[in-house]
Amino acid sequence: MEQILILDFGSQYTQLIARRLRGLRVYCEILPFRTPVEEILSRSPKGIILSGGPSSVCDAGAPVPDPAVLSLGIPVLGICYGMQLIAREMGGRVHKALKREYGLSKLKVRGTSVLFRGVPKNLDVWMSHGDEVKAAPYGFRVTAGTHDVPIAAMECVDRGLYSVQFHPEVQHTASGARILENFARRVCGCKERWTPASFLAGTVAGIKKRVGKEAVICALSGGVDSSVAAVLAHRAVGRKLHCIFVDTGLLRIGDRERMTEIFRKKFRFNLKIVDASKLFLGRLRGVVSPERKRKIIGRTFIEVFESEAKKLKGAGFLVQGTLYPDVIESVSVKGPSAVIKSHHNVGGLPKKMGFGLVEPLRFLFKDEARELGRSLGIPEAILMQHPFPGPGLAIRVLGCVTGERLAVLGKADLILREEILAFGWYPKIWQAFCVLLPVRTVGVMGDERSYENVIAVRCVGSTDGMTADWSRLPYELMRRVSARIVGEVRGVNRVVYDITSKPPATIEWE
Ligand code: XMP
Repeated sequence: MEQILILDFGSQYTQLIARRLRGLRVYCEILPFRTPVEEILSRSPKGIILSGGPSSVCDAGAPVPDPAVLSLGIPVLGICYGMQLIAREMGGRVHKALKREYGLSKLKVRGTSVLFRGVPKNLDVWMSHGDEVKAAPYGFRVTAGTHDVPIAAMECVDRGLYSVQFHPEVQHTASGARILENFARRVCGCKERWTPASFLAGTVAGIKKRVGKEAVICALSGGVDSSVAAVLAHRAVGRKLHCIFVDTGLLRIGDRERMTEIFRKKFRFNLKIVDASKLFLGRLRGVVSPERKRKIIGRTFIEVFESEAKKLKGAGFLVQGTLYPDVIESVSVKGPSAVIKSHHNVGGLPKKMGFGLVEPLRFLFKDEARELGRSLGIPEAILMQHPFPGPGLAIRVLGCVTGERLAVLGKADLILREEILAFGWYPKIWQAFCVLLPVRTVGVMGDERSYENVIAVRCVGSTDGMTADWSRLPYELMRRVSARIVGEVRGVNRVVYDITSKPPATIEWE
């Protein structure tokens, strides 16, 4: 398979380079910057991209790639820090800036460079750098500049070395995708049109071979990742795949029925539904702290799954829906960060269980997993659903979690989903859900005073869940939701709308 390798020097945009290239149907992977040249060569890449990064090439100990990378005869594109590396390694001069330049700049393209073919002569580009190339290395031609940065792009065609100071992978750079496409197609000569479905045959054959005669198990949550991973594994091993769906009692109305409908009836999975709701609710009794709830649920889930897995003799493998961003995360160098919430992901099971892992999506981004899922016949209702947290409704019933409070929340949540769908807003929203607050307020119903629960509605837009803004829903939709919840859900007399962004709030309330 034709591919481009991206060496990661720690830029916050490295993943974006990969996403843009994949969007252009060019297969690529991200590797740590110090990957040995033998490993690079073993993948026969058509091209190499050196990413940006927070370091300065002028500092001692700045990250450098294997020195042979620039002389392999494989085309290289250096972006930002990558450009400064090329400049320094090839004998140019790099100047350490006193302050970072950050934001849009006007780029002027000079002469004719294959990299800028089909790109306007003047364009807005996104800059985010400290250092700057002051003198291009011998044999290099300067191909673009801005007012403040005269050497904003340079190349040495004979050596196949290209570089840009700005970030073509960022949306704000006009024609940025075109520049990356020119590098991949015209400079590196990539011809294949990669699609996630190109993965299918190879991945299915790979799973078959690896698993052999053994049985495979999977914690199926019904979310996008575990569903696509399970359907792929099912293609490979059929009835030898045993899926386990744990009903925690913390699910939304309809979740369990949907699992039966889709995976048992449509895909004919070997699916075991384990009703563990009593166990979960028992352990959550009287628990108010969000962190304790999360820990109890995570632990109990593993316990239930382990005891089910033990009943399956001869199971040597576990299918997980790990996606590429998690794989990249785990190899990249991270600083210390505070734990905001202890996540519990269905499928994120401990290594000590001793299964071999089957992770058929580990090289795909989420949108690619969806695309693959579509080609496998997985319904849109699964592929396009909003994220739903592992701890389920327990972290949306604030305070004590009881069967009655879960039922109240479940009904309100169903109404919200129905109305969002009816108004055509479901695809415009990242997540839409209700939260049952631990307070009661006074109302008037008929001629009677009421003293009942409050439901908070939370609808947010986001691209990755890391930041979010509240959705500006149409008033009529809000009116319908509020009227239906107080009219149809016993025990609720007030509905409020959460208008806080993330940060400073988080998406979930607990
Ligand atoms: P927060 O509340 O941290 O949520 O802004 C960000 C995104 O993560 C989801 N979330 C979880 N997902 N297990 C999950 O699988 C969890 O424990 C969990 N907690 C939060 C949340 O719904 C949002 O999409």
